[in-house]
Amino acid sequence: EVLDGTDRVLLPGFVDLHTHLREPGREDTETIDSGSAAAARGGYTAVFAMANTDPVADSAVVTDHVWRRGQEVGLVDVHPVGAVTIGLAGKQLAEMGTMASGVGQVKMFSDDGKCVDDPLLMRRALEYSSSLGVLIAQHAEEPRLTVGAVAHEGPTAARLGLAGWPRAAEESIVARDALLARDAGARVHICHASTAGTVSLLEWARAQGISISAEVTPHHLLLDDSRLETYDGINRVNPPLRERSDVEALRKGLASGVIDCVATDHAPHAEQDKCCEFSQARPGMLGLETALSIVIETMVRPGLLDWRGVAKVMSERPAEIVGLDDQGRPLEVGEPANLVLVDPHTEWTVHGPDLASIADNTPYQDMTLPGRVTATVLRGRITARDGAVFPRTDGK
Ligand code: NCD
Ligand code: ZN
Ligand code: ZN
Ligand code: ZN
Repeated sequence: EVLDGTDRVLLPGFVDLHTHLREPGREDTETIDSGSAAAARGGYTAVFAMANTDPVADSAVVTDHVWRRGQEVGLVDVHPVGAVTIGLAGKQLAEMGTMASGVGQVKMFSDDGKCVDDPLLMRRALEYSSSLGVLIAQHAEEPRLTVGAVAHEGPTAARLGLAGWPRAAEESIVARDALLARDAGARVHICHASTAGTVSLLEWARAQGISISAEVTPHHLLLDDSRLETYDGINRVNPPLRERSDVEALRKGLASGVIDCVATDHAPHAEQDKCCEFSQARPGMLGLETALSIVIETMVRPGLLDWRGVAKVMSERPAEIVGLDDQGRPLEVGEPANLVLVDPHTEWTVHGPDLASIADNTPYQDMTLPGRVTATVLRGRITARDGAVFPRTDGK
């Protein structure tokens, strides 16, 4: 089959370090099947499926299932993320080694939004991860750890009376884990950086020679807390939408490399859990199919990143961070390719029901965004083309 690349931008297949696929447990909102379709349409050839499923991905039974199911569907490599502890926010470290050496070959572990509350446990997790050669991903968002659950997240939230997830919750965990990683001689990855203060802390930690990496989501690059005015649950997300000055700092941080990469934090929720009042809504937004367009809108159009830079933040750096050796790098001659073709000139208008995800609610509804993936290729096989997806049909 021939792909016509005339007037297209050719990039390495994207790698998403942060995706919630909801299988097992909430297949009414997303499955490995539907989420893989969204990923392929979004230009991804590898995604990391977060551990906060039901049951939690704290054993090889779950992580192996996630990998195998992804391979059966065949649209994108679905790498399982394991839970650091038994249960989310558990008190005992999970058997990371068993998950790492299983079929799913878990490369990254997280407690998904619960942090590892206990600093001693986090320190042990970092040491363990370092000896296994895997990565601990820290969500850095849980307010009860530091400042109590009733503090406000900024002037807008305070005026509207919305309880929030204050900056101090995020920044104190980033600082804590940078220091713990330093002392443990380990690496730590910061999920969804959302504040200007986090960008400064990352810069500081790097200057100390600490092995720390970080991601930013498309929604934190585009949206700000003015969206909260409507009290619409669609805008609820962890960490919350911040102020415009934070958005600017995140864009600059991504442009300069202080923030390594873009990760979607694709987090589907049922209609009744999003299309309601802010305080009743579950946190999370769809992200896989809109990520590239938002990166073009927020980074390429303002001249903060060129296409080389897009390849770096969407593919090369995330692959490097997690140690994927078959993604995000130049191809050897004759090697099956992971790549994506982008039409940079087109615009499209987002309609939730047209997205491949089972959940249809999106904060970008009716927004017109620039650029679109026209084809995705996984190991030489076309997985998505002009919106159509091509799962494996060989029944394996
Ligand atoms: C995530 C989810 O829904 O699983 N939600 C979110 O707002 N990012 C969990 C989380 O990371 O808090
Ligand atoms: Zn999170
Ligand atoms: Zn998440
Ligand atoms: Zn849909």
